[in-house]
Amino acid sequence: MSIGIGVVGAGVMGADHAMTLARHVSGATLIAICDADEERATRVATQTGAVRQYSSADSLIRDNQVDAVLIASPDETHADLVLACLEARKPVLCEKPLASTADRCLDIVRAEVRLGRQWVQVGYMRRFDPPYLAMRDAIATGQCGRPLLVHCTHRGVKAAPFMTSDMVVSAGAVHEIDITRWLLDEEIASAQAFASRSKTSSPIRDPQFLVMKTKSGVLITVEIFESAGYGYDVRSEVVCDNGTISLAAPIDINIRKEGTESFAFAADWRPRFAAAYRAQLQAWVNSVLSGTPCGASAWDGYVATAVADACLESTNTSRRIDIQLAPRPDLYK
Ligand SMILES: NC(=O)c1ccc[n+]([C@@H]2O[C@H](COP(=O)([O-])OP(=O)(O)OC[C@H]3O[C@@H](n4cnc5c(N)ncnc54)[C@H](O)[C@@H]3O)[C@@H](O)[C@H]2O)c1
Repeated sequence: MSIGIGVVGAGVMGADHAMTLARHVSGATLIAICDADEERATRVATQTGAVRQYSSADSLIRDNQVDAVLIASPDETHADLVLACLEARKPVLCEKPLASTADRCLDIVRAEVRLGRQWVQVGYMRRFDPPYLAMRDAIATGQCGRPLLVHCTHRGVKAAPFMTSDMVVSAGAVHEIDITRWLLDEEIASAQAFASRSKTSSPIRDPQFLVMKTKSGVLITVEIFESAGYGYDVRSEVVCDNGTISLAAPIDINIRKEGTESFAFAADWRPRFAAAYRAQLQAWVNSVLSGTPCGASAWDGYVATAVADACLESTNTSRRIDIQLAPRPDLYK
């Protein structure tokens, strides 16, 4: 059995997901591509063999050949598009963040609860990344004792031109927020944000630094620096009672010559997380076929954005913010 997939957004991520679907995912056929920019849609359709192209997401969502929808358009479009998919009763994999604010995420959670089943997966692909999976397993065994601290570093080469100071947190650090609550299997209770002076000539607050605490008292630090210049570099170290658990440095090959040792960083997230994107897409297709949800749910999408909202409130007020979540519906327990 095979399902037809429609991809909304043919930019950096949409093109990457469409290519992964066309080349590496079984049980699904990439049927349609939509982009507000028709040229982009045509380019990606030609590269991937998608037979239908649209410039309106609504037309793609209504297409009878499209059984499930992958949303990779800008953050501010996500909420309306996910709600349109729910209205059409079509499973949806929405790129992170689920919506730009926690309130909009809750609109999606409530719509799903009204339908009585989970239709939405959020693209927090690190949950499918082999090193993060190994880290989670290592924490769960308790071999190093209880986690006490988590240090996260998230650096990129250059902030996208559309990136705002708030998006450094709501679209960037939100990955760290999701992955730490998934690694630790508990909620973040409070958050405080700090900004250093910004990188010379940067028009936005970059880097930023977050300090969060979980309900049981694990302290989480996040450095996010979108324009770090030298390469894409994601690190994480969990400090436990009796040892530490870290992601290994992202090395494919290591070169030693002329008195130096070196390795190359990726230019962006796509090579570093290629295996995770592929595994996430295959798991999503499998879950659509079986009707069993997997990955980050709409509820997880809401919580990540609620914590990001608290960080932004902390930036605006210079205070630590205690996080109050909405009651968790039974659908997500
Ligand atoms: N999971 C990850 O690792 C990861 C990495 C980067 C970006 N993202 C997320 O993926 C999404 C896309 O980011 P990107 O970097 O590909 O952006 P992008 O700007 O490269 O691409 C977005 C595309 O969407 C199109 N578009 C805009 N509004 C539309 C609409 N209403 N309907 C259809 N198409 C529309 C644009 O023309 C553009 O081609 C964002 O939500 C972003 O936060 C996730």
